[in-house]
Amino acid sequence: MDIFEREMTRESIFRDRNVLSPHYVPEHLPYRDKEIERIMKILAPALRGKKPNNIFIYGKTGTGKTATVKHVMDKLTQAKEKYNAPVDHIYINCRTHNRKYQVLLKIAETIYPDENFMGFASTHLYDKILEYIDGRGVIYVVVLDEVDQVKDIDDLLYMLTRANDHLQKGHIGIIGISNNVTFMDKLDPRSKSTLMQEEMVFAPYNAIQLKAILSERAEIAFKPGMYEESALELAAAYAAQESGDARYALKLLLRAGDIADEQGVPVTDEHVRQARTAVEEDIVLDLISTLPEHPAIVLYSIAELTMEGGKYAKLTGMPDSGDKVLFSGEVYERYEQVCKKWNRKPRSARWYREYLKELEMLGLITLTLSGKGIRGNTQLIRLAFTPQKVMAAIKKKFE
Ligand SMILES: Nc1ncnc2c1ncn2[C@@H]1O[C@H](COP(=O)(O)OP(=O)(O)OP(=O)(O)O)[C@@H](O)[C@H]1O
Ligand SMILES: [Mg+2]
Repeated sequence: MDIFEREMTRESIFRDRNVLSPHYVPEHLPYRDKEIERIMKILAPALRGKKPNNIFIYGKTGTGKTATVKHVMDKLTQAKEKYNAPVDHIYINCRTHNRKYQVLLKIAETIYPDENFMGFASTHLYDKILEYIDGRGVIYVVVLDEVDQVKDIDDLLYMLTRANDHLQKGHIGIIGISNNVTFMDKLDPRSKSTLMQEEMVFAPYNAIQLKAILSERAEIAFKPGMYEESALELAAAYAAQESGDARYALKLLLRAGDIADEQGVPVTDEHVRQARTAVEEDIVLDLISTLPEHPAIVLYSIAELTMEGGKYAKLTGMPDSGDKVLFSGEVYERYEQVCKKWNRKPRSARWYREYLKELEMLGLITLTLSGKGIRGNTQLIRLAFTPQKVMAAIKKKFE
């Protein structure tokens, strides 16, 4: 059988891989019953056309804030349709709509799907939105997810509150969500009291809870017998260490599932361990993509020399010694060459040493002193990750 044939005839261990993807919205959210109930309770008056309190929800990443609020919004829509209730809602992710204007534009475009508002002033959008709410007398719930991303958040909250003073009928309710706890301190006191009429904190999940969350998903995602319980436990334990993040737990399980699927065997602890290394590598590559230019070029030079084998390897006659160590001097020379190639002006050796320290602090390289034997007392540099991936990530930055 050739590779194509094998690909087409092979049995997957997945029944529905999508269930583990970040976009999947689970029907059931274990351990969030209380939170769901509380939000529903706060919003319930809206079904009868009464003003609900605004809610501010915060908690660490992956604690189910977005999933919980979306779940409640689905329920709100169901109740609205069943009882013809005067409520409406919009979900806005403020990472992509991070200005007051963009938030207003998104609302206007959603309530008037046939009109084009591009280029209109925000006062015009504001009037159109009020007209809609007043005309229908609806309670309009605006969910601002990742609300800490909005640059002019005080302006936005002020405008939404002022809208409520102008409305004869209807009302705008706000649900703000954030994983940034310090964000509240930066808010204007007036915005703070607007947003935090009700405040909720989502606690991190512990290992047992994460295991249960994974079990529910794994049962649908994999064919029977295609994963070991201990693999789920291990993924849950890693994620519990990682601040109780359910997203991370699911990511690990998906990666582990892909590795096992390729081998055509059930998911084991070993696959989870491999997945963890791979996921961490992704995180490192993300980190590299945010490095400033010169530290990135230094790191690139280190990676390139590591691939070629530096002077140390040649000196000791061990080009493939696996433990690839570089001299600080040769790295600086290479750094100057790479700068020239990429049309950047090299910084002084003093700056270069600062960059090395920065890279070490980020865990991307390790620094040691050579000891007297080799070339006096020079600094030795070792790359902490595979050079190919590091180089590819940095090259992308400079393209
Ligand atoms: N109780 C739960 N049961 C099942 N799945 C959950 C639960 N909590 C979270 N998840 C899943 O974990 C992932 C992360 O959850 P979610 O996106 O809601 O986190 P978040 O708190 O909004 O994180 P962030 O602050 O990073 O936006 C999602 O895929 C979600 O489906
Ligand atoms: Mg979220």
